[in-house]
Amino acid sequence: MATTTTTTTSVVPQFLAQYGKEAYVKGWADLWERGGDYVDWDMGCSNPALEDTLLQHRSILGGPITLDEHGRRYRKKALVPGCGSGLDVLLLASFGYDAYGLEYSHSAVQLCKAEESRSKARDDYPVRDEEVGRGNVTFVQGDFFNDAWLEGLGLGRGEYDVIYDHSFFCALDPSLRPQWGQRKAQLLAPTGRLICLEYPRHLDPSEMGPPYMALSEDYLEHLTQPGLQRVVYWEPDRTHANGIDAQGVIQDRVSIWCW
Ligand SMILES: C[S@@+](CC[C@H](N)C(=O)[O-])C[C@H]1O[C@@H](n2cnc3c(N)ncnc32)[C@H](O)[C@@H]1O
Repeated sequence: MATTTTTTTSVVPQFLAQYGKEAYVKGWADLWERGGDYVDWDMGCSNPALEDTLLQHRSILGGPITLDEHGRRYRKKALVPGCGSGLDVLLLASFGYDAYGLEYSHSAVQLCKAEESRSKARDDYPVRDEEVGRGNVTFVQGDFFNDAWLEGLGLGRGEYDVIYDHSFFCALDPSLRPQWGQRKAQLLAPTGRLICLEYPRHLDPSEMGPPYMALSEDYLEHLTQPGLQRVVYWEPDRTHANGIDAQGVIQDRVSIWCW
């Protein structure tokens, strides 16, 4: 099917271009310091495609509670790298996961904590299953590509049962994609599931990023390389507005990966 490309008028690409590849994380942190139009990707709600995935693909994801190697009940850990304002993290916790949001930006981490308090007061993310209950929420500052934040949490590599990626793959310079794939694989538990909400598939590739166009083939290339397999792939019924093209066609896709 022919894809309609979308052009952006965002200030983000020009702003980040000043930092170059080496200091790009500092650029993201400075965007968060400015806020407003400088964080124009933030949709102000969790992604409905993630909610539908958690509701409809339990046969692949398993439940949020399982038994550990000693037969003890264990709440699975879910990680959202580059979690932004953290709302997808709150959604994962409402489904019962111990949910971790990782952000390089200190300001974003503060915002995530404020969102958590606000959402508690308004019960924006009610517990989905009283028997399972709510998981813990942890927001942590750190760089996805190094282990300092993991060590700070007292965790090692390969301990995340679920990893969710939306708008993080496309936020990175494309030269970092092989490292992104390796790192996802490093962090995922042996029985873990990686959920990618693939975005944006419909940008004009000549446009300056981020976001950088991200085709499903790009996810396949960079996740199969470290040995992950795509177990399911579909067009979501609902997603954020920026994953829908000018003709109203949903361009986002969801893929789930395992070892
Ligand atoms: C485009 S935003 C997406 C945020 C969120 N996932 C969403 O869907 O709204 C990308 C986020 O990744 C964060 N980020 C970029 N590079 C990072 C890194 N190396 N480690 C941790 N966070 C990073 C940025 O600060 C930014 O908040």
